Amino acid sequence: MSDTLDAPQQTETSPVNEAMRALERRTVAHLTAGGTTDWGDAPMRISPREYTDPVRFEAERRELFGKAPLLAGLSCEVAKPGDVMLFDSAGPAIVIVRARDGTLNAFLNMCTHRAARLVADCSRRKLLVCPFHAWSFDLDGKVVAMPGEASFEGIDRASRSLIRVPVAEWGGMVFVKAHASDEAIDVEAWLGDMGPELLNLDLAGARLIKHSRVDVEANWKYALDTYGEGYHFGALHPTTFGTSSISNVILYDSLEPHYRVCFTNVGYRDLVGVDEAQWPSAPYGASHLLFPNSIVYGAPMEGGGRMIGMYRLYPGDEPGRCFTIMSTYRVADAPAETPDSAFEAAHDYIETVVRTEDYSVSKEGQRNLQHAPEGFEMVYGRNEIALQNVHRNIAAMIGMPLD
Ligand code: FES
Ligand SMILES: [Fe+2]
Repeated sequence: MSDTLDAPQQTETSPVNEAMRALERRTVAHLTAGGTTDWGDAPMRISPREYTDPVRFEAERRELFGKAPLLAGLSCEVAKPGDVMLFDSAGPAIVIVRARDGTLNAFLNMCTHRAARLVADCSRRKLLVCPFHAWSFDLDGKVVAMPGEASFEGIDRASRSLIRVPVAEWGGMVFVKAHASDEAIDVEAWLGDMGPELLNLDLAGARLIKHSRVDVEANWKYALDTYGEGYHFGALHPTTFGTSSISNVILYDSLEPHYRVCFTNVGYRDLVGVDEAQWPSAPYGASHLLFPNSIVYGAPMEGGGRMIGMYRLYPGDEPGRCFTIMSTYRVADAPAETPDSAFEAAHDYIETVVRTEDYSVSKEGQRNLQHAPEGFEMVYGRNEIALQNVHRNIAAMIGMPLD
């Protein structure tokens, strides 16, 4: 296996707990100051075209979703040789397979005979066998059987290998670039300062609980914006997230082009004025955007241990449509007494709230943007610093300055 990284140990005085304690200090300082928040230098105006312009939308699909390293899932989903993971969300159908030597291969999920879809489910297998005429490929993509091969005289098997897609594994995560190419992905360079933060989540020790898909009639960035600020908790989520998290007290760290935000659990109110030595030890948890589209969220579970929520947003077939793949994983630190059903319940709760509260606002807002009068501008506050920087970074990456 190419992934030999060990997650940092979490003990009372470990670096991971120290990382969390440093965040908690900042949170408690905000609460002690009466409910302040991390923020940027100034508000920022933005044109609705950021969310509605088809030219910009196509450039995002091409430059971001076609070229940037995208999080395809966690290593645990392709743990053993012959395990496959399908990744169709960013354009071409891609199959990722664990080879016999433990490394990962990724290919277009396309037979090299007449382009049929090769793999339709994630069951473990020794060969990739096409359902159309049963050409068979080994886990490294080489043709090993062509029924009626005499009909293909002069066609060299070696020239019909599956078409490679860039793939890399790091820290328990699997990344692909959604195009055909032999190029490598330098994940460590891509993640930069975000890499060590993600190791704190122990993704390599996680186990998949559930995936689901939510379609929304909104631009993918409008939906993504809801994950980057906690300004809306009280107003939009008064009976759900707003009962557990305090509005508008947020930690923000720019780990360019990625970011981390920490929302403030109501329990931190109890630590104001309390000597730090008396604070309970908390496992590392925060919300991380892996640019451009993937949120990796670590959160404590009742009863101990953590869950990982992964929320990946993708453009739909027009600027005003997108979809989210929501995934929940169980971290190895969760005690055995906590059943998987508790993680499923957390998944379903988050999905319901995001779909019915966040995304219903996204849908109505998108409709308004499509009919906004000439000259109207939205505005991101200083407290929406994560949104400001994400939109700046997207604009820079696609080479189209913000209006
Ligand atoms: S298209 Fe796959 S074997 Fe014919
Ligand atoms: Fe929300």
